[in-house]
Amino acid sequence: MENAQQWFRSEVLSLPSYVPGGVIEDPAVIKLASNELPFSPLKQVQASVLSTLGDYNSYPDMFGRDLIATLAQHYQWDGGIVLGNGSTALIEKILQAVTTPNGEIVYAWRSFEAYPIAVQAAGGISVQVPLTSKGEHDLTAMARAVTDNTRAILVCSPNNPTGTVISHDEFVEFMNSVPARIPVLLDEAYIDFADESFDPIRSIELLNTYKNLVVLRTFSKAYGLAGLRCGFSLCSQDFAGPLSSIMTPFGVNSVAQIAARSALHAHEYVEKQVQFVCDERERVVKKARELGYAIPSTGSNFFWLTFANETDINAFMSLCEEKKIVVRRFANEGVRLSIGNVEGNNRIIDVLTMHSTNTTHE
Ligand SMILES: Cc1ncc(COP(=O)(O)O)c(C=O)c1O
Repeated sequence: MENAQQWFRSEVLSLPSYVPGGVIEDPAVIKLASNELPFSPLKQVQASVLSTLGDYNSYPDMFGRDLIATLAQHYQWDGGIVLGNGSTALIEKILQAVTTPNGEIVYAWRSFEAYPIAVQAAGGISVQVPLTSKGEHDLTAMARAVTDNTRAILVCSPNNPTGTVISHDEFVEFMNSVPARIPVLLDEAYIDFADESFDPIRSIELLNTYKNLVVLRTFSKAYGLAGLRCGFSLCSQDFAGPLSSIMTPFGVNSVAQIAARSALHAHEYVEKQVQFVCDERERVVKKARELGYAIPSTGSNFFWLTFANETDINAFMSLCEEKKIVVRRFANEGVRLSIGNVEGNNRIIDVLTMHSTNTTHE
């Protein structure tokens, strides 16, 4: 590490590491740790990818024009659209682009674990505003955390890992309290799982009013293309221009562009899969609540469990291992469980049932 200290900025050397959901080798194990869709890509998406096999000696369309045109039509948005190698790449690049040395980035915590890494790598300072006791963003406290040094605000709805959804009116009030000089990055990676009953932010509608609003979406979740890496940002043209210039040239590969377009065209099938996940989520969460677990309201493809103490969380994790499900533990804070196929979800219910007979819950 002695050499590394000469080569890298100190904040890079002290970056927290991103914990992936893990690679599972035992076929009997079901992975419920990365909020992935429990379906392989749709047949028509697979077919469109296969039809282009062999063309990979050429670079992809650097500007992803066909995909952007399809996105513009799908979302009825004629402003800026920028593609990224997953929405994580967009978050990183935007933060690199807007953060001045020691500039502050405000976001709720706990939220997506890539945020503190991206902020620190961009040379910024994280200003983490605790979630409420219900696992929701405290937007009033977030607005109060804004200072002259604030360079951006990250808002995650539905929030990873609690699943909570910010309502449209709450968000409008928040946007009205934020100075227009500060970009607000609204990370909607899981928005397709939040139906109308959550009164989710009508984010695209708001793009016309708030030029500092930047909506981030991904094909990794509802569209089931996590392995291909494609995310996109919907924003004003004024924001899209400089953002495009900092993105990695040819950063979104040809296969991802083709698959993403094809998945958008197959939207009605995607919706059916999303509906399956939402129905399963209701089944599992209902059962968990009946068993006495306090679960934050979730409009996502996962839910969040907290535990009384370390012994309790350890016991829960051992049961998951016994039942061969891999879930995502966040130290002693809690466990996030992704909704999987019926078998995986039945195993979650088994674990919850076994655990509840041994313990009382928070
Ligand atoms: C809240 C949130 N935002 C963004 C992402 C990034 O998705 P991707 O980089 O796969 O597009 C994730 C992935 O887990 C996430 O949980």
